[in-house]
Amino acid sequence: MIYPGDFKNVKISFKELFCALSDALDYVENSLFGTTKNHAKRVAYIAAVMGKKAGLGDSELSDITACALLHDNALTEYIHTEQQAGINVLLSKEITHIDSHCISGEKNISVLPFYPRVKNVILYHHERADGYGPFHKKTADTLLAARLIHLADLIDLRFASEQYTATREAAMKQFAVDHTDTLFDSETVGLFISCLEDGLVQETEQQDCTVLLKNAFPEKFCDYGKDEIISVGAMFAKIIDYKSNFTSRHSLGIATKALRMAQFYGWDDETQGAYYLAGALHDIGKLAVTTDILEKPDALTAQEYKQIQFHAYATNEILSGIAGFEDIREWAAYHHEKLDGSGYPFGKTAAQLPHKSRLMACLDTYQALREVRPYKQGMTHDAAVAFLRDQAARGKLDAECVHDIDVCFRSDPA
Ligand SMILES: [Fe+2]
Ligand SMILES: [Fe+2]
Ligand SMILES: [Fe+2]
Ligand SMILES: [Fe+2]
Repeated sequence: MIYPGDFKNVKISFKELFCALSDALDYVENSLFGTTKNHAKRVAYIAAVMGKKAGLGDSELSDITACALLHDNALTEYIHTEQQAGINVLLSKEITHIDSHCISGEKNISVLPFYPRVKNVILYHHERADGYGPFHKKTADTLLAARLIHLADLIDLRFASEQYTATREAAMKQFAVDHTDTLFDSETVGLFISCLEDGLVQETEQQDCTVLLKNAFPEKFCDYGKDEIISVGAMFAKIIDYKSNFTSRHSLGIATKALRMAQFYGWDDETQGAYYLAGALHDIGKLAVTTDILEKPDALTAQEYKQIQFHAYATNEILSGIAGFEDIREWAAYHHEKLDGSGYPFGKTAAQLPHKSRLMACLDTYQALREVRPYKQGMTHDAAVAFLRDQAARGKLDAECVHDIDVCFRSDPA
């Protein structure tokens, strides 16, 4: 059977996409380093307000805000790399090789459509005015966006968890002034003080930071084409995959297979890109689950199993914040649902599961079986399909999707 493509919502709200995805990154920073919740959003808000004060136009402000949301996008990758070298960042709770997350973070965003305008912003977000930052760049070599993010980041890390009082505002100002020409350049400090005088601290104290950020983040609807959507998806797949050593190419593998299936069915380019993105993001909720549970070698307790199951619910939550993503959310977040209603997180039944969600569930199982993991070999195509067929016979997976996966990958297993 030929299943229809037709993904209609091709206009993606740039700000909603990045706000929602930063929620996922926030889980990582919050759980690993004890930063207060919504750190990335507050950094983005402070940077945006300062950027506006500097007289930047909407387009530049939009770019800066997106970069600020993604300033630590390579943290999962950094932790993974340190673990490979025998260093447990989770115990020490500090970044020893500060340059590495700057380099990887810069590389990760280099595939994004707006990258040429923000080159070196993430790379230099820890540079200091006195040249003692990780790359020894001074103010003249560092874009304003990077300097704004640097100050906003340090201010938030240092002061966000404290209750607002006039003394706190004074302490922030003093901190910025005391570190002028060492950590921060005078232009950035001047902008920050001016924002403080405009009531920046009271605002962040009194209003929800998501609302504040959405108001400060100029709207830009992106008519992303297939290739650009795939670039965004690949970047996030990589971030998600670095969460666990066990599944280090799982999201990317699903995304690639989702695209192969979309091409197999002859869907139009928009639908192909959207289905790739759904595959890339299907496990984004795993960023909300602690790594020790994801990688626990022993049997899970009932409580731990519930936490694992929570990842699909978190995927649904994260993606439901993005207008235009209704279909993508449905295809991504239902990948553990079963036709007989025994799946999770919603216990949906066949009548509630569209073809692309059923297919994603089959692809998730197929990919997981084919993957090599530290505790198992990857299955052959035939063995994996036999398992899927058995699941279809038990009323769990869609038999036609299983058949199509078999035909699509039999001659050229990915
Ligand atoms: Fe950083
Ligand atoms: Fe940060
Ligand atoms: Fe999953
Ligand atoms: Fe998965």
